[in-house]
Amino acid sequence: RAKRLSTPQIRDRKGQQPIVCLTAYTTQMARWLDPHVDLLLVGDSLGMVVYGFDSTLPVTLDMMIAHGAAVMRGAERACVIVDLPFGSYQASPEQAFRAAARVMAETGCSGVKLEGGAEMAETIRFLAQRGIPVCGHVGLMPQSVNVAGGFKATGRSEAEAQKVAQDAATVADAGAFAVVLEGTVEPVAAAITSSLKVPTIGIGASPACDGQILVAEDVFGLFSDFTPRFVKRYANLGVEISAAAEAYAREVRSRTFPTLDHCFRARPDKDRSA
Ligand code: KIV
Ligand code: NA
Repeated sequence: RAKRLSTPQIRDRKGQQPIVCLTAYTTQMARWLDPHVDLLLVGDSLGMVVYGFDSTLPVTLDMMIAHGAAVMRGAERACVIVDLPFGSYQASPEQAFRAAARVMAETGCSGVKLEGGAEMAETIRFLAQRGIPVCGHVGLMPQSVNVAGGFKATGRSEAEAQKVAQDAATVADAGAFAVVLEGTVEPVAAAITSSLKVPTIGIGASPACDGQILVAEDVFGLFSDFTPRFVKRYANLGVEISAAAEAYAREVRSRTFPTLDHCFRARPDKDRSA
């Protein structure tokens, strides 16, 4: 059995080799991706991708735990990190600890991720000092979509650049083992990456980051409600699924599926149920 990558090993990749990350929400997706990635994130993006919500805000802790446990059943080598959903951690360090402890205990994952900059530093320190590895997430923070007024890249103005740099530094100082940097302009992402001691994992944040993450369904062409500029599509599986469903429907309607090859036959001397 392959040994699972730990959060310290992810942290120590800084300055070594790029950290390869993708999201996964299900056991089967985890099985497919596990041989190829260093880290699997059970992202709260599942609210939009799996459940059809138009933001990540309706995602619950129970949903994250169910999907986290499913991914753990399919991944043996990757470091599995589970997002804390909106409303499960922002009220206090104690609230965050209770939510994160449930995620750790009920899924067996290696750590949690939470969104927020300087305002979350105390919470990150509280968790990290109590046995819960934390991955930060700064820049574009989807759980703050209502405050930000949309899903927009950040770091374009000098004020924004300073804020995201300050957020990343504070989160790293608080004890985060890595920091996801989302939707952040290239020079700012590069400067943050060279100043932090822990790795940056970019999504729409330039090749300068220490690692990259994308939503797996975006990569495989399985989700197209909207496709941000930073997504690269490596396959078009949604098109293949549609074509397969169409072929199946045609064959059922024309009674060309099933054929007798797909059927159980009665054998006079044997049990009919097998
Ligand atoms: O929820 C998610 O999938 C994420 C990543 C895209 C970073 O937070
Ligand atoms: Na997320």
